[in-house]
Amino acid sequence: MYAEFIDSKIEKYAEEHSDQEPELLKKLNRETHLKVLKPRMLAGEYQGRLLAMLSKLINPKYVLEIGTYTGYSALCWKEGLQKDGEVHTIDNNEELKAIQERYFEQGDAEGQIKLHIGTALEIIPDLHKDWDLVFLDADKHNYINYYNMLIEDLKPGAVIIADNVLWSGKVIDDKAQDNDTVALREFNKAIQNDNRVSNILIPVRDGITVIRKEE
Ligand SMILES: C[S@@+](CC[C@H](N)C(=O)[O-])C[C@H]1O[C@@H](n2cnc3c(N)ncnc32)[C@H](O)[C@@H]1O
Repeated sequence: MYAEFIDSKIEKYAEEHSDQEPELLKKLNRETHLKVLKPRMLAGEYQGRLLAMLSKLINPKYVLEIGTYTGYSALCWKEGLQKDGEVHTIDNNEELKAIQERYFEQGDAEGQIKLHIGTALEIIPDLHKDWDLVFLDADKHNYINYYNMLIEDLKPGAVIIADNVLWSGKVIDDKAQDNDTVALREFNKAIQNDNRVSNILIPVRDGITVIRKEE
């Protein structure tokens, strides 16, 4: 379970005063919880609305998402996409393909979401797009590798969003020394020390860092 970083009554009030989850995403959320392993991996209602809002503000042409799972966040990114834009989303779990495709068919009649099945570190170098928005939401120990692979070629103003950066609060628990926690601590530190970017860590849900490539 995620630690509660925000008072639950405040969280509820915030949810009640935010956009509501679109019907298709509600259905996907429910089906994921009923039928798919580890449903807590899905972005979820409130965080999904945050991702959709960020997408609408950025209005990206090209989005790269690392970690599709059942496709919930890819559909959120699509909400702010330019008319001729594309969301490229990567996942290495082939078993999710049927549910991903079924929901992309319903929520993406235009075919703007491009699904890539395989290992992200192998697929990314073959996707030659001028990314406006990158979402890191797969294996935590590779966040820094994805970041290093992409940051130099991103244009000024491009945004990287990294999920789970608080890792249920374990990043501030000195006793937590498992690989993912250590990797996330190092990732957070590397971003904070990188003067090519500006960054803000938002303590929503499991922690989201928004990173902007500067001039
Ligand atoms: C937290 S889930 C993504 C959740 C999704 N972004 C959402 O919010 O609905 C992480 C996903 O990353 C995938 N994944 C893990 N390691 C990967 C890798 N090395 N390459 C590609 N996908 C990976 C897993 O199969 C899993 O579906």
